[in-house]
Amino acid sequence: MEALAITPDSHIVTIASGGCNVLSYLTADPARITAVDLNPAHVAYNKLKIAAARHLPDYGHFHRFFGQADDRANLAAYKRYLRPHLDEATRRYWEGRDMVGRRRIGGFASNVYKRGLLGNFITAAHLLAKVYRVDLKEVLAAKSVEEQSAIFERRLAPVFDRKFVRWLIDQPASLFGLGIPPAQYRALAGDHPDGIRAVLKERLRKLACDFDIRDNYFAQQAFGRRYARGEGSSLPPYLEPANYDAVKDRIDRVEMLHANFIEHLAGLPAASRDRYILLDAQDWMTDDLLTTLWTQITRTAKPGARVLFRTAAAPSLLPGRVPDAILDRWDYRAAESLDFTKRDRSSIYGGVHLYVLRD
Ligand SMILES: C[S@@+](CC[C@H](N)C(=O)[O-])C[C@H]1O[C@@H](n2cnc3c(N)ncnc32)[C@H](O)[C@@H]1O
Repeated sequence: MEALAITPDSHIVTIASGGCNVLSYLTADPARITAVDLNPAHVAYNKLKIAAARHLPDYGHFHRFFGQADDRANLAAYKRYLRPHLDEATRRYWEGRDMVGRRRIGGFASNVYKRGLLGNFITAAHLLAKVYRVDLKEVLAAKSVEEQSAIFERRLAPVFDRKFVRWLIDQPASLFGLGIPPAQYRALAGDHPDGIRAVLKERLRKLACDFDIRDNYFAQQAFGRRYARGEGSSLPPYLEPANYDAVKDRIDRVEMLHANFIEHLAGLPAASRDRYILLDAQDWMTDDLLTTLWTQITRTAKPGARVLFRTAAAPSLLPGRVPDAILDRWDYRAAESLDFTKRDRSSIYGGVHLYVLRD
């Protein structure tokens, strides 16, 4: 949010993913947000969140749905307040069944954050740690960042040296199934002289040690499988009680499209958009796709427009892959990007990168 510097006239175009970011941008009061995603699951998730902000009766219901996401009362709320407002495809998605036969909407009665690729990845990490009698929740009991570091060094770090864990992490296939695609695996493995194991260990160290766990909802989800409740709870901006009215009042500024980011931009007028968020999507694009993407971004961007993205490896992947004639139009904010990377509490990415269009 800090890197984006959203202003009241900003028209944001973002990849939607799970939708926490999309809704959280509303707290910065932009003019409009267009969220696009190729993945129908993410489209359905965003449409559910938008309907919830619009139609759930109060903050209590909203927080129980997405902040707790583990209460049967959410299923009754879905039926009564959300279902009547969803389009056919979204309703079919939520009332349909996942690969193991569970109704998807049922996730909100039994912790939806344990589902999906990232949910599975975290479950696998917890199970693996348990084999070595390490409970990843121990980190949550720390009273200071010093204590967090001590727990990491004493308990978590040694797990990476176990023979089976070393073998497992070195198998690209074990990570593909959990949501790290081949191109990202290669980028990660090449990012450290000691390979993928050292990278994963360093990312986990950052998540466990570099930020107070009480201010880090990413770490609370990774180690505790939920947002902490009561004292020491930290929530994404869209779920904070103080932001509820703003999110609800402004929800009509969000549109959710099932589309390819590049094709969406190709249909837009020149110089018409202000902020672009690509998440990590460029990690699996070819040079040709990257060039088409940046051709369209440059065409549709207004002066001063900002582009923000993350990469699995540390460096910005653009130089040498997108022609200089395009990149020269942009000011890569190298020092700021390094600082944002350092302060990225999610800790799973190697780099956060900010580009600003030159006047
Ligand atoms: C893995 S998620 C990123 C989630 C991560 N938590 C983050 O915030 O960076 C990447 C998303 O990009 C979407 N995506 C990738 N390429 C895309 C494209 N060309 N157009 C639209 N969405 C795309 C995927 O469907 C997915 O939802």
